[in-house]
Order: sequence, then structure tokens, then C-alpha cells
Amino acid sequence: MKPIQPTELVFDPALPLEQACTIPNRWYTDAEILAAEKAMVFGRHWVVVGRFDQVSRPGEYLTCHVGDEPIIVLRGEDGELRGFFNVCRHRAARVMTHECGVATKLRCPYHGWTYDLYGQLRGVPEFEGVENFQREENGLWPVHVATWGPLVFVHLGEPAMSLEEFLHPLGKALEPFAIDQLRFYGRQVYDLACNWKVYCDNYLDGGYHVNSIHPALAGVLDYKNYRTELFNYFSVQSSPMKAPDAADDPSAAMVRTGPAAAYVYLYPNFMINCYSGVMDTNTVLPLGPERCRVIFDFYFAPTNDPTAEHRYAQSMMVADKIQAEDVAICEDVQRGLHSRAFTSGRFSVRREAGVYHFHRLLAADLKGGSGMFSGD
Ligand code: FES
Ligand SMILES: [Fe+2]
Repeated sequence: MKPIQPTELVFDPALPLEQACTIPNRWYTDAEILAAEKAMVFGRHWVVVGRFDQVSRPGEYLTCHVGDEPIIVLRGEDGELRGFFNVCRHRAARVMTHECGVATKLRCPYHGWTYDLYGQLRGVPEFEGVENFQREENGLWPVHVATWGPLVFVHLGEPAMSLEEFLHPLGKALEPFAIDQLRFYGRQVYDLACNWKVYCDNYLDGGYHVNSIHPALAGVLDYKNYRTELFNYFSVQSSPMKAPDAADDPSAAMVRTGPAAAYVYLYPNFMINCYSGVMDTNTVLPLGPERCRVIFDFYFAPTNDPTAEHRYAQSMMVADKIQAEDVAICEDVQRGLHSRAFTSGRFSVRREAGVYHFHRLLAADLKGGSGMFSGD
């Protein structure tokens, strides 16, 4: 028996939301697509690589990968923040291998070449007699860095716009949450068996899955008034908060308070979740076509209250439970994307404008590649 196919769904970013469908399932499983995303999405936008507090003092550094590129960001003795490809000019080993730390010089662990905090090559052991070799031409390759509030960004290419322009008007959207006054408290890392975009799609569905997947969270959100607003490179989902009903799980209500919640998605892979005095950020890193890592950083308003530690731990536990619910559904979706019964889906006009916004940005970036990124 042939399955009923009323219309053939082809991704067309020119269609209005009412007529649009999602990017095709192949984009969630194909290694070639992921390679293109690393080059044309992660390689061509400002992306978050860490926190300001990790590199606030001279000598502090953090390492990361953007796409597949090893990167180091460090604060020089002159107080300037600089970024470099963390790739030794001798044999391409990573020069610094710790996630973060403090250093007065950068020493490659392979053969001991050293670079200063300006990226200049300084020490080159046993290189006497090498001809046509200039130390000053063998420094680390620089990369653009910029900061915004508590976040450090890197741009691998030549930025078409400044970070400020890229983020405009995010500051205004987050003003009520005074995020500059929050302090980093802790990190949780999750590895998922799904494509990185499955996690983003799930985040961006305008609260569509909250009632069914997150019963405790649903108790504190005023779902009828949950809204999504779209901007150039980010979207903001916001919802007024409400008191939970007696039958609701009370755990979320104790640590998710205030007049409203805001969920910011910053293209391509970063999220900021704000409640009163509480923020967590999520960085989604592709690990393979069907694997990703999500890093949660938790921030809280500083206080002298002796019970604060307990509340922070409780807040992180609530986030952990919500994340477990999201992980389960995302991994289920990833399996479904292999089915012959699914190639693409439609959008809820009321809820899912954020998902389509993401798919359009992605398609626009990949379009520069080749015909392989048409809707098939
Ligand atoms: S690869 Fe760095 S010193 Fe050889
Ligand atoms: Fe969720």
C-alpha cells in the first residue's frame, strides 16, 4: 500500500510561514551538510566561545573549537583581549591544551616552541642552521574576538558586521534581567545523540512542547501569552510567569520566579534563558552529524543570604530535569529523521516562527555552497 502524500514538501525559504516546511531530514544526518555548516555557518558568524570572567585578568586564557578550528582567546599583559588559532606553526599541534588557565607564555607540548601573549613566536629549540626561516613570520594566526556582557565571541573570518551590529537590539530585550549583575556559578555538560539542529529546533518551537514534555515548567508559564519575536540574527521567546496550580509539581516554581521568563536564541548555536535573578546559557556544539554537546553555564544574582547555595543547587537540579526531558525527545526525533515516512514537516503559525527563522538563516548561509543545499 502506498502512503498518502497529499503534497510534496520542498524547503523554500521564500515561502511565508503559513506555506513553509522545515529543512529536509537529510540535513540532520549527512556528514557533508555538517562539514558545510562548519565552514559556512560557524566559520562565518560571531559565535560564543566562553565567558568574560574566564579571561578578565592578564594572562588568563580559554581554549575552544569553532567548527573544527582550535582557538585560544587570552588577555595580554597590556589588558587587551586577543584570539589566535591554537595551532602550532611547527607541526600543527594544539599549543595550549587545557580548557582554561593562566599563562605568561604559550608553550607547545610537542617540541617546545613558545609564543608570547601577543602570539609572537619566541622560543624555537634546536633550529640553528634552518634557512629562510623568520621567527616574526611564524607567530600564531590571529582571529577576531569581541565581548558582550558576560560573553566572549570569536569570528573566524572577516566579520561583515561588528558584534554590536550582529547582536542589535539584544541589550534592550534583556534589559529587565540586568544580566551584567549576575555571577557565574557552575557548568553542566550534556552529550546528546542528535544533530545540533534538532536541539535548536526543540528550543525554538515557541513553547509548543512545554505542556507535554515539561509538566513542572508548564506550571509556572502563562502559556496563552507565550510570544516569539524575531530579529535579524536572534529571536526572543518570552512568557509571563504564573503561580502554579495546587496539582502542579512545585519544584520549578521555587527557583523560576519573577514577572516573566525570556528565552533568547542567538544564531547559530547559543541560548540565553532568563528568570528573575537567574540565567543559564546553552552552547550547542556539533560533535558529528548525529551527536552534539550542550554546555549549560549557570549565573545567579550575588547575595549574602546563607541559603543561597541551596537555592542555586536546586535551580540547577530543575534545569537538569528539564534538560533530561529535552534530551529524551531530541534523541527520539533523531531516530525518526531516518524513517522513510518523514522527509520534512510543517510549522504551527501560532508557535513555530522561531524554527522557520532559524532554517531560513541556515539555508541562506549554505546557499553559497552548491546545488546540494536545495530542498531535496
Ligand atoms: S608542533 Fe609545536 S613545537 Fe612542534
Ligand atoms: Fe524543552
